[in-house]
Amino acid sequence: MGARNPSTRGRRGSTYGPSVAWFVPVVARASEVFYLVGPEANRFALHTPNRAHPDYLGSIRQEIAAARSDTNTPITYEMVRGLLLLTNAIKEASRLESPVSMLPRGLLREVEFGGYRLPVGARGYLAVSATHRLSEVFANPHTFDPDRFSAPRDEERRIPYSLLTFGGGQRICIDVNFAQIEVKALALEVFQRFELQPLGSERPRQPSFITAGIPGGIHVRALPR
Ligand code: HEM
Repeated sequence: MGARNPSTRGRRGSTYGPSVAWFVPVVARASEVFYLVGPEANRFALHTPNRAHPDYLGSIRQEIAAARSDTNTPITYEMVRGLLLLTNAIKEASRLESPVSMLPRGLLREVEFGGYRLPVGARGYLAVSATHRLSEVFANPHTFDPDRFSAPRDEERRIPYSLLTFGGGQRICIDVNFAQIEVKALALEVFQRFELQPLGSERPRQPSFITAGIPGGIHVRALPR
């Protein structure tokens, strides 16, 4: 496909603002599009970085147009897989506002961590949101900068388990691959058909203990292109 290599575009990351949130729900609700709550998921998925990141969205649209000439062309796995800018933007949004913000664990053996001795049976929580903002791992961690995931930077690859949107290791999400394909296919279709105007500025909150979301959904105006 004719998409530009994101690592060579020289675009600077923008300061992280409220509307990074537009990408997050795409990831957070990706899998639910088909399984659980279709309308809600679609509302979420339609929210994109229109507002704070028009530049980046423009690049994504170009990438999509290069991959799929018109909306009658069937969407294929290869087509979706090749959308690097979209992939990076979704990754970046879920880094900044991880849909699953902590991972619960129980200790099977005693460990010492950060000067504390934790006994067998203690409960621990892996703070995904905090991990995603470590400056040792991610340069300018509070900045929305999807290009950090492209070569040569590849920031999430330098230290294992840096990006934990879908967990990692033995407990990694069983839906990790499908969810990403699914949300990209949906975004591709929607971006090709509509201009989106977010009507609110609410950011994801943590209505439940583990997961984040926007209670009541996000409102958007969709204008046919
Ligand atoms: C985009 C949406 C999703 C996100 C962000 C997500 C995220 C995660 C995360 C972070 C974990 C790790 C939990 C841990 O380590 O304690 C996990 C595990 C898991 N997820 Fe997902 N998930 C998503 C969608 C789904 C869907 C749709 C399914 C069902 C088809 C699913 C099934 C599972 C299962 C079964 C596990 C547990 C795996 C294990 O412990 O062996 N996930 N997910």
